[in-house]
Amino acid sequence: MDVRVEEKPFAQEQQGRKAPPCTLVIFGAGGDLTKRLLMPAIYNLRKARLLPDQFAIIAVDRTPKPVDAFRDYLAEGVRSFVSDTASGDATEPFDKQAWEFVANRITHFAGDLTLPDTYARLYEVHEKTAAVHQTGGNAVFYLAVASELFGTIVENLGVVGLAREKDGAWRRVIIEKPFGSDLTSARALNAQILKVLSESQVYRMDHFLGKETVQNIMVLRFANGIFEPIWNRDHIDHVQITVAETVGVERRAKFYEATGALRDMVPNHVFQLFSLIAMGVPNSFAADAVRAEKSKVLAAVHPLGDAEVRRSVVRGQYAAGEIRGERVNGYREEPGVAPASVTETYVAMQLAVDNWRWAGVPFYLRTGKRLSRRTTEIAIHFKQAPFALFRETPVDILTPNVLALQIQPDEGVSLQFSAKVPGPEIALGGVRMNFSYKDYFKTAPTTGYETLVYDCMIGDAILFNRDDGVEAGWAVVQPILDLWQNDKTVALERYDAGSAGPEAAETLLWRSGRRWRPIV
Ligand code: BG6
Repeated sequence: MDVRVEEKPFAQEQQGRKAPPCTLVIFGAGGDLTKRLLMPAIYNLRKARLLPDQFAIIAVDRTPKPVDAFRDYLAEGVRSFVSDTASGDATEPFDKQAWEFVANRITHFAGDLTLPDTYARLYEVHEKTAAVHQTGGNAVFYLAVASELFGTIVENLGVVGLAREKDGAWRRVIIEKPFGSDLTSARALNAQILKVLSESQVYRMDHFLGKETVQNIMVLRFANGIFEPIWNRDHIDHVQITVAETVGVERRAKFYEATGALRDMVPNHVFQLFSLIAMGVPNSFAADAVRAEKSKVLAAVHPLGDAEVRRSVVRGQYAAGEIRGERVNGYREEPGVAPASVTETYVAMQLAVDNWRWAGVPFYLRTGKRLSRRTTEIAIHFKQAPFALFRETPVDILTPNVLALQIQPDEGVSLQFSAKVPGPEIALGGVRMNFSYKDYFKTAPTTGYETLVYDCMIGDAILFNRDDGVEAGWAVVQPILDLWQNDKTVALERYDAGSAGPEAAETLLWRSGRRWRPIV
């Protein structure tokens, strides 16, 4: 495909639109997320000249640390991000100046987040920082901490007055996932938070929305005239969404044992992909218009009864196997995992959407760890052309038309269709038209958090979850959680590490004559 596009890498595209003055208060500043993702993102924002000069960071952590040592610790994260992502011709040296701009604005603040006194002290430090750096009192509070602390932190910010917007200064809170562990807890957390903050101050994070190609789903659908007219039950046979990982549980057994693949991936990441694909056309690209459509389609998912959960949902757990020639443990042998654990590491399901656009169109979703390949992909399978025309020709099967959106890795879009094989006879072959991001765009390496943090600073919530969206997602999976909890006879399918997942997931599609796209 010969496509000409204007190159607008992140850095250039946004130049000149600096975020307004503000302080970034990071709770959990000593944690992994801050070091690996958040600080490299802040560094990238500086490189792209998107940070205001009147900018400061208050790094809140449990234990006191000399600020220089702390800055060095964070610098390591940025350096390793740069060397991890720089490759081939695009090698980017560590930009010392950009880092120093950020590092010089960091204040370290130690405190126990469960104690009210911490917040009283934080209030003072914030006031002082705001005066020194002239941030105008604007603040982003980033909750990069264990989810049990979300409610406590917000309540305490409220008590000391840090959450109050006054004299034109704004206060916003970014909340990482997991947002609740089921529908009841998500509702309770929303209620607790919204006692202190208004919805417009809350930025619920789903890092999948920071991925360029996820954002591109909206552009593909709504900035092109050709897709929307056929984006419905008249033309689409079914949709497959796959989020396959090769990694196992890593060092997160404690979290994962209590969470499992369903809670960890489906109501958040997988449903982001699903709702962007299935939503109706929003009135505009305003955050609330888009988020309303996303919530609406989640609310239209046909509620699963017990019989449907049994029939349409498959759970699995990886056994020992081989990934890229290397032997790997089964889930139950992983450090920290109970030897008889029934936590699922894989889930596949078939969903139906009860609305005019999608009636009768199955959506098949699957996600799992220790699968044969890392791939996140959405495949739209279109209906077959009628066979009639090719009755007299040696054509067994027409190639199905599939529009595949490859989210990661190798971001791109491909369209599969039938073409005539050269020769005297009419013989058809399946061919593919490919668009690959890296062939057309020269993009600077990003963590995906740049856009999200920047959007919060400028007050654009389009890439964040609204309260109703989060609850609608949990409402879809709640019947599954309930049945698995209450009925111990529901099968936990074993699959070999390095495979495409359990056999039973194949059956989900086979029974209606369909098949998953291969992961291998
Ligand atoms: C996280 C999950 O939210 O997303 C992890 O907790 C998962 O289990 C990760 O591995 C996947 O994100 P990405 O960006 O690596 O595809």
